[in-house]
Amino acid sequence: MSDASAATTDRVPVRDALLDVQPYGAPQLDVPVRLNTNETAEPPPPGYLEEVGRRIQDLALNRYPDRPHHALRDALAARLDLTRAEVWAANGSNEVLLQLLQAYGGPDRLALHWRPGYSMYPELCRTSATPDVQVDLDEDFRLSPATARAAVEAHDPHLVLLPSPNNPVGTTVEHDAIRALHDASRALIVVDEAYVEFGDDDASVLGLLAELPRLVIVRTFSKAFRLAGLRLGYLIAAPWVIEDVQKVRLPYHLDAVKQVAGLVALEQEQAFLDHRARVAAERDRLAAVLTRRPDVEVFDSSANFLLIRTHVPDLFDRLLERGVLVRDFSTKPRLEGCVRITVGTAQENDAFLAALADALG
Ligand SMILES: Cc1ncc(COP(=O)(O)O)c(C=O)c1O
Repeated sequence: MSDASAATTDRVPVRDALLDVQPYGAPQLDVPVRLNTNETAEPPPPGYLEEVGRRIQDLALNRYPDRPHHALRDALAARLDLTRAEVWAANGSNEVLLQLLQAYGGPDRLALHWRPGYSMYPELCRTSATPDVQVDLDEDFRLSPATARAAVEAHDPHLVLLPSPNNPVGTTVEHDAIRALHDASRALIVVDEAYVEFGDDDASVLGLLAELPRLVIVRTFSKAFRLAGLRLGYLIAAPWVIEDVQKVRLPYHLDAVKQVAGLVALEQEQAFLDHRARVAAERDRLAAVLTRRPDVEVFDSSANFLLIRTHVPDLFDRLLERGVLVRDFSTKPRLEGCVRITVGTAQENDAFLAALADALG
């Protein structure tokens, strides 16, 4: 075989849609201060890992895990005052979102999402071969009921993906905008509440579930629950949605260790979530200091991060040179000059503020 033919037969061409694609993911760099992926800086509460360690002694790891993960779903349902039939868990909320797109998306369907919005939505649409359209949020990065209604009327989507609080801008969606999306469309309205525990108790759209049958909520243990390393997220929806996602899940997608680790976290919920006041206080302190700088625009946030805009196009690199890793959005449409900072410990936040002062000169 000639060299040329070997070159063409030794490698299987990737799907056309993936030809120019780079694997998605924020940089994982070994720098002193990492404020780029919206994790919680504090580790899980004392005693958590010991309890998980004790409980996994009883697992029969030679056997497959409980496929419908009933114990974990019962614990989630009890916490939410729902039934097992209305909750479902997967490996991070990203997998929940992928399962929703696999179940309700596909080549002959359309997903609608917003700009700015969570940058995984286009990736998940592509992976599930779902055509997607991205529509601008309002000028203030909020979604008015009128804008919501106009978008679904113009595009007639099968799914609407909406983060609330929004990542990266931090705004929360008004309930009337969700009602407008639902009433003016036939779509599954997916509200991604990855950061909801950081905001006011009434910010969640949970209370709208009974009113809006096509509303579904996606949540995660990665943010306020301080378990990003566990990869656990969940879905809250009508029983027919939970039945449908089971048609696309892998047979034993949720491993036995993770099921136990999630259960123990729910048992220790109070201790897990007690850092939220500290995060909010640090976020507000950061925002107050930044707002006093005339060269920085700060966006309001109900989450554990802040979006800022400056006139320094390479601020991300300048901060990195000073040992601080943030998330760069400066080249994204509508986010020119913006970086996003995860609220860290007081020391990390001080390190960021010092690096920023130095970088801005
Ligand atoms: C809005 C939003 N949704 C979902 C996720 C995914 O979270 P996970 O897959 O860790 O649950 C993130 C993570 O950054 C996010 O910002």
